[in-house]
Amino acid sequence: MSRTRRTSGVTRCWADTNDMCFSPWLNSRFLRQLAGIESHYYQAKTEIRQFIRKIIKKKLADDERKTLPAIQSKDKNIFLNLATDLLRRGVFTLKNVEDESNIIVFGAFETTANAVYYTLMLLAMFPQYQERAFEEIKAMFPNTGDFDVSYADTQEMVYLDLILNESMRVIPPVPVVSRQTSQDLQLSNGIVVPQGVQIAIDIFHMHRSKKIWGPDAETFNPDHFLPDNIRDKHPYAYIPFTKGIRNCIGWRYALISAKVTLAKLLRNYRFSTSFPFEDLYFVEDITMKLKTVPLLELQKRN
Ligand code: HEM
Repeated sequence: MSRTRRTSGVTRCWADTNDMCFSPWLNSRFLRQLAGIESHYYQAKTEIRQFIRKIIKKKLADDERKTLPAIQSKDKNIFLNLATDLLRRGVFTLKNVEDESNIIVFGAFETTANAVYYTLMLLAMFPQYQERAFEEIKAMFPNTGDFDVSYADTQEMVYLDLILNESMRVIPPVPVVSRQTSQDLQLSNGIVVPQGVQIAIDIFHMHRSKKIWGPDAETFNPDHFLPDNIRDKHPYAYIPFTKGIRNCIGWRYALISAKVTLAKLLRNYRFSTSFPFEDLYFVEDITMKLKTVPLLELQKRN
């Protein structure tokens, strides 16, 4: 895998969004122009908006060729069907459909891609766990090459589940989320957090707390998620997608698509690296970044 990646509009737009969260003055177009980054920001934003607009336009054109009952009989759980249905009924404007689609693309893209990459990287660093995952996948898919992975297959990949969970524990793709208190909040230690305070929830450090996860909290070991080891943990000890009413709406889809991708890659290639786990240097952003992205070597499997 190459160290220099061609970055897509989504990735560049994420980087700009990160910059704006951590340097709020960059929300001003004037200051972005002064800083000389406005054209970069504009280009990335336009690229992703055009991509999304194209998908929406195609969907609306497809619908136009169909009768209303045929359109309405479509699966309501598919996001774009739901959004365009609201547009047809006058609840959404076209801009609403575009904005909601943008959120889905931004929420889904880099998070899932990083979760898959970090899992492959960790398996390259800890080959003993990669071999166990490989054996599980090979038993289900004896042949290399391309193969279909059904939802039922993903539910049978029990060891891959442990691995994916452990990967998102030691390297949560979203390391920190924030909330604002809507009323005074008394913590269990008696401290009162007043209404209107911004709170950062530090997922990364909570996932690595020795108090919660034991002495080897800082290392990668899928056994952390064996039923006997996870049973007595606090339900909020592990929150890569957070929990509660504003948790990630795409978490099920993310897990399924990550497992399908990992199964196909791990069945076809052995991943290795000379980069030690201990040398990883994390850079907390909206999504988790690495100061140096380790090179992975791929060897074809039989
Ligand atoms: C491994 C992959 C993913 C991770 C780790 C992840 C994680 C998160 C986290 C931590 C949040 C913030 C929740 C909060 O503030 O409490 C979030 C929000 C969100 N995610 Fe994901 N996500 C992933 C994949 C996806 C996918 C695939 C989609 C869409 C198909 C998606 C759509 C969203 C949306 C729309 C929100 C905003 C929800 C709201 O504010 O109500 N995410 N995600």
